Amino acid sequence: MSLIRINEDLCKKDGICVQECPVVIISQESEELCPVVVPGGNDLCIACGHCVAVCPQGALDHASVPLESSPSIIKENVIDHQQAIQFLRSRRSARKFKNKPVEKQAIQELIEIARYAPTGSNAQEVEWTVFTKKEDLRKVSELTIDWLRKVLDGPIKDTMPSYFPMIVAGWDFGIDVILREAPVLVVASAPGEAGNGLVDLTIALSYLELAASTNGMGTCWAGLAQLALLHSQPLQEFIDLPEGHASHYPMMLGYPKFRYHRLPERKNPKVYWRE
Ligand SMILES: Cc1cc2nc3c(=O)[nH]c(=O)nc-3n(C[C@H](O)[C@H](O)[C@H](O)COP(=O)(O)O)c2cc1C
Repeated sequence: MSLIRINEDLCKKDGICVQECPVVIISQESEELCPVVVPGGNDLCIACGHCVAVCPQGALDHASVPLESSPSIIKENVIDHQQAIQFLRSRRSARKFKNKPVEKQAIQELIEIARYAPTGSNAQEVEWTVFTKKEDLRKVSELTIDWLRKVLDGPIKDTMPSYFPMIVAGWDFGIDVILREAPVLVVASAPGEAGNGLVDLTIALSYLELAASTNGMGTCWAGLAQLALLHSQPLQEFIDLPEGHASHYPMMLGYPKFRYHRLPERKNPKVYWRE
């Protein structure tokens, strides 16, 4: 049985699905005939759902991407260009969080939205490990500091960024710049075999952080914890990512203490036009 079913009563034979399919498994012999899935097409289909999404008549259904779970795009909810520019420019990294937990459902909702990020070959292999206990986040920071101390005591210390000693000094002074007392740490990860694992999970985290900003939440990429996670066995054991997940990145999440009022400027992009 074909993964893709075409409702011949609704099909206008416009061939849009044929042109849209990224793996070219839908064909149409003539303008008088409805498209069909080519022999062997089921095995090549990446279940991206483009055929379902692009048909104006809703004439295509897909076993893995059912029409009934693919709602219509609501025109009134489409943001315009100026809104999009302000939305994207106003996202900030939060570094001070309210002493307020984030509801599990709110975290779950962000992860659900992050599912809609693109993934190489539509692999959708990003998984999530979520820490919400204060003592667990503290432990992640502590193990990161332990690793930093070791590096700063070792032979490669001169190759490390010059601000590393300040981070350790800050910790000893009672300031956690590793996770900044965020109430939640989400770690996105992907299997080692996933060719685009790190890219996929990075985009997913970007979706998550943009979505968080629309719901009163703030995020910050936990670059120092990531660095330690790449090298520190005690931290790897504590975070305990799913078996074989070689790609990962942690992100802080919480309710930001401060609001932002301006859109700071960035460097001009260097663009090499090859015209
Ligand atoms: C990969 C990555 C790692 C980062 N790691 C940290 C970090 O460990 N600690 C921190 O305070 N900010 C971290 N940041 C936040 C950057 O410093 C921040 O994105 C940058 O200064 C621009 O500010 P904005 O995000 O508010 O626009 C990280 C950002 C990225 C993309």
